[in-house]
Amino acid sequence: MNIVPALSPVRLDLAERSYDIHIGTDLLSQAGQLIAPLLKQKKLFVVADSTVAELHLERLNAALHAAGIAAEHYLVPSGEASKSFAQLERLCEAVLATAPERSTTLLAFGGGVVGDLTGFAAAILLRGLPFIQMPTTLLSQVDSSVGGKTAINSRHGKNLLGAFHQPKLVLADIDLLATLPARELVSGYGEVMKYGLIDDAPFFAWLEQNGPALLEGEAEARRQAVHHAVCAKARIVAADERESGQRALLNLGHTFGHALEAETFYSDLLLHGEAVALGCLMAFDLSVRLGLCPEADFERLRRHCAAVGLKVALPKLEAGWDEQRLFDHFAHDKKVADGRLVFIIARGIGQSFISRDVPEASLRALLADWVKGAQS
Ligand SMILES: NC(=O)c1ccc[n+]([C@@H]2O[C@H](COP(=O)([O-])OP(=O)(O)OC[C@H]3O[C@@H](n4cnc5c(N)ncnc54)[C@H](O)[C@@H]3O)[C@@H](O)[C@H]2O)c1
Ligand SMILES: [Zn+2]
Repeated sequence: MNIVPALSPVRLDLAERSYDIHIGTDLLSQAGQLIAPLLKQKKLFVVADSTVAELHLERLNAALHAAGIAAEHYLVPSGEASKSFAQLERLCEAVLATAPERSTTLLAFGGGVVGDLTGFAAAILLRGLPFIQMPTTLLSQVDSSVGGKTAINSRHGKNLLGAFHQPKLVLADIDLLATLPARELVSGYGEVMKYGLIDDAPFFAWLEQNGPALLEGEAEARRQAVHHAVCAKARIVAADERESGQRALLNLGHTFGHALEAETFYSDLLLHGEAVALGCLMAFDLSVRLGLCPEADFERLRRHCAAVGLKVALPKLEAGWDEQRLFDHFAHDKKVADGRLVFIIARGIGQSFISRDVPEASLRALLADWVKGAQS
């Protein structure tokens, strides 16, 4: 195992809701020591992804036990389907069965699915219980565990039921990524890349150099990428916690991505980060068509996606893609303001901005071309 020296945690500055985000190796064995100072009673309600539990729960338990923390456990079946009303109800009832107090703390141990579900349960249980994030996927380490957005899905779309609820602490142990399936790792990389595309061209250039090493398991490259992404997210969230302005930039690639995910029924055909990366490509393609972005930047992005194994065309659907249905999703996406479509587009790599006046005809032409180009 590569041991990477611990660095000081990243601080997300939100007045009384501020918290630390630790990024490093071997944090699992230090979890008890790091968590204990936050607990009023030495008790924790651990909500774990079932796959992650099989691989890593024993070591987490040992670390909690060593710090004198008693843990209750609740397992969530792996997969996006767990961000549901039914699972939320089961989890909340399980917590309530332990007669929680206002200081009872939940720990989310898993990827974005468990983090979003646990965070939302924590937000509504007794009108707000404290919770801690221990993200175990690249995606959740660089994105979903930081910033306090929590949610479950509705039959009307993704993340439509949720709350802002900040965690008290985030522990991102990059060692845990060693057991993550390669495709999940690459998918999470889609969200890493997003930070370079938004406002950080030097980071995108760094990823062009170091992305392959990161994906192959080089610990220092992983730590640096996660650290850089978390700093970017913390900075954006600190400036705009409730997404009244610039935080919306983090949705680059998501309006398209959510439509693609919905049309593939949140299935294995397209993982979230893969959909976001495709969404980023579509946003850059749109920006080129609108005469805002040099074609060379779109091509550079496409080359990088291909180099790291991200999809660069829509996957083939048995029933075929339907442009109108894709278009209709934009209206259902939360990124609609005053009835107008809000898209994040770009003047180039690292120069994204929020646009409220993308012409419908350009969008339709873009969708038609991407649908035609679906991979066979
Ligand atoms: N709240 C936010 O701000 C935010 C931001 C981005 C994404 N999200 C949400 O995050 C979710 C996606 O998160 P994700 O990509 O982490 O998916 P996930 O939680 O479904 O995890 C992906 C898969 O990896 C497995 N896994 C997790 N950690 C593992 C490990 N260390 N070793 C082996 N297997 C492991 C899981 O069992 C699962 O099968 C989506 O629901 C998305 O909407 C939320
Ligand atoms: Zn995302």
